[in-house]
Amino acid sequence: MDSRSRYSCSFLLAVLAASLSVTGSVALEAGEIVTYEMLAPVLAQRCVMCHSGEAAAANLRLDSFDSLLKGGRSGPVVKAGQPAASELIRRLKGSRLPRMPMTGPPFLSATEIARFERWIATGLPRGDVTSVEAPENIQPRRPAPGEVVTYLHVAPVFATRCASCHTDGGLLGRAPEGYRLTSYRATLASHDRVRVVPGRPEASELIRRIRGQARPRMPLNGPYLSDEEIQLIEVWVAQGARNAQGRVAVIPEGAAVRLHGTLGPGWQLDGLPLSISAGTRIDKSPGPGDYVQVRGRLGKAATVEVERLRRR
Ligand code: HEC
Ligand code: HEC
Repeated sequence: MDSRSRYSCSFLLAVLAASLSVTGSVALEAGEIVTYEMLAPVLAQRCVMCHSGEAAAANLRLDSFDSLLKGGRSGPVVKAGQPAASELIRRLKGSRLPRMPMTGPPFLSATEIARFERWIATGLPRGDVTSVEAPENIQPRRPAPGEVVTYLHVAPVFATRCASCHTDGGLLGRAPEGYRLTSYRATLASHDRVRVVPGRPEASELIRRIRGQARPRMPLNGPYLSDEEIQLIEVWVAQGARNAQGRVAVIPEGAAVRLHGTLGPGWQLDGLPLSISAGTRIDKSPGPGDYVQVRGRLGKAATVEVERLRRR
């Protein structure tokens, strides 16, 4: 081995060691006993914003020892002595999707996951604590004045108000329109068509649906979101639909869009200017005041280049 490759080899080892200690990916100590009490802080910080109360995601409450053992819509999520067969571990590792916490990445560190595994493997000991002490600001977590809105703020709304249907195997079987609201990536997906256009709430069918400009209004059959929740999601989209780390999303130029709303004078949809060209197909002679469906593509600067406009 020449000196250069020896250098790069030890350099790589150093990087590896550094990244291991940063993510806390060191093995659990042999014989370390893990109780529910030791897991409660992680549950408080990473899980209970969605998994508590009446509207708990997947009907799974993770805010007390008893409710964790009881499980969710599909029964217990922990099987004493069998970490690998426990749904909780599958979700934390991502061998079952969507991976938890739904706000990840970041997901739990390898050590944190190993703690949950040890706890299950050793028969679910409780310790002195029976419930998670949820800091007041977690439930529901709202941005402070002036703070940017990220996926961390809106995800609990999607989890508790939308994901019961907008998931695989939800209340309606398949996710309606193939649209899943169970991760950041799925919420912003644009492979078939885009429902959230970063920076453009009016061009986002998701916003139109929660406002009731597009029908049927969401959540289907109500109760609808509060004005505060709608505004929170609007601001999130207007500020670029940031991910959990606060990074702004890229506008998927060229992606298909399908919008519903009321046509105004001069080719606009509830105030959103529509770009009509010689190639636009216009059906059933729609006019101002008509409820219409618009199909098209996102142009530069997120303009809506209309391919088809049709009265409904
Ligand atoms: C932002 C909201 C949110 C957060 C935070 C969150 N979850 Fe979830 N969780 C959900 C949703 C939504 C589902 C249902 C997803 C689906 O359709 O499978 C779910 C499902 C689960 C399930 C499967 C339940 C079942 O019966 O199928 C487990 C287990 C779970 N979560 C554990 C956790 C744990 C542990 C944490 C914290 C480390 C966590 N979740 C954090 C929203 C969340
Ligand atoms: C009870 C089930 C249910 C719930 C809860 C629900 N939806 Fe829906 N959603 C549907 C159905 C069904 C459709 C298809 C309706 C149609 O257009 O005919 C749909 C359609 C949509 C669409 C249009 C998708 C597309 O491809 O254009 C969006 C966006 C949407 N929902 C967002 C939401 C949001 C956001 C929430 C939560 C605030 C929510 N939904 C809650 C059942 C539900």
